[in-house]
Amino acid sequence: MVTESHVRIILGLSLALVLFIASALAQDQTEAVDGAAVFKKRCSMCHGPEGKGFSANKTPNFTSSEWQKSISDAEINETVKNGKKGTPMQAFGSKLSEGEIKAVVAHVRSLGAEKK
Ligand code: HEC
Repeated sequence: MVTESHVRIILGLSLALVLFIASALAQDQTEAVDGAAVFKKRCSMCHGPEGKGFSANKTPNFTSSEWQKSISDAEINETVKNGKKGTPMQAFGSKLSEGEIKAVVAHVRSLGAEKK
């Protein structure tokens, strides 16, 4: 016989399971991609291993707070996706996944926070 308390336990367990799956999925999207690794592989040759840029190829210093203040997340995202016309900054929209772009943008941001 299924009593009311059985129903409550089953409902409680179902809710816990749904929350668990939802949090696992949420983590998957944000943590599965290592932005620093993407940066090292795809960007560091032009932007430097620490994102400080090279004056010889006119790449900006991502660790500068002035640079960080001059640009929005959306603009960084846009640059990575579509590149900058007339500069060596290429478009990565077809080379990186949406998640990889998000992660590498977050990494570029973190470079400003780490070094004052
Ligand atoms: C072939 C060299 C090269 C590669 C590879 C490259 N960049 Fe760039 N990037 C540049 C240059 C050069 C500029 C400066 C463009 C300019 O003159 O405004 C630049 C500019 C930028 C800017 C600044 C845009 C702005 O409006 O100030 C961002 C952000 C950026 N790159 C991110 C990345 C990221 C992230 C990657 C890797 C996914 C990457 N770049 C890979 C050469 C490169």
